[in-house]
Amino acid sequence: MAQVTFIAFDGSEMQIDATGGISLMENAVANGVDGIEAQCGGNAYCGTCRVIPQGAWGDRLGPRGDVEEGLLSSLDEDNPGVRLSCQITVSEALDGLVVRLPESQS
Ligand code: FES
Repeated sequence: MAQVTFIAFDGSEMQIDATGGISLMENAVANGVDGIEAQCGGNAYCGTCRVIPQGAWGDRLGPRGDVEEGLLSSLDEDNPGVRLSCQITVSEALDGLVVRLPESQS
């Protein structure tokens, strides 16, 4: 279990208790987080699950994977900090994670 805070583009916050072993996207959808549409169901194809880790979390999550990098490049994502939440697996190490949602998902 990890406590994760999602900050919408308008600044409103939602905190969830995320379950380990599944993706951050799946946790967001299960908890009704607005702005995480996840149209492709987590197949790194749609780009509607983007999040921007805040503060030191960008480094702590490590670099984008190849599939993640490929999709974000093809979508001309220009923020290097953006991640696909469907490609982030939740663990206790992510307790306290704070992510912001991009304007495109507002
Ligand atoms: Fe489609 Fe993440 S859910 S790219």
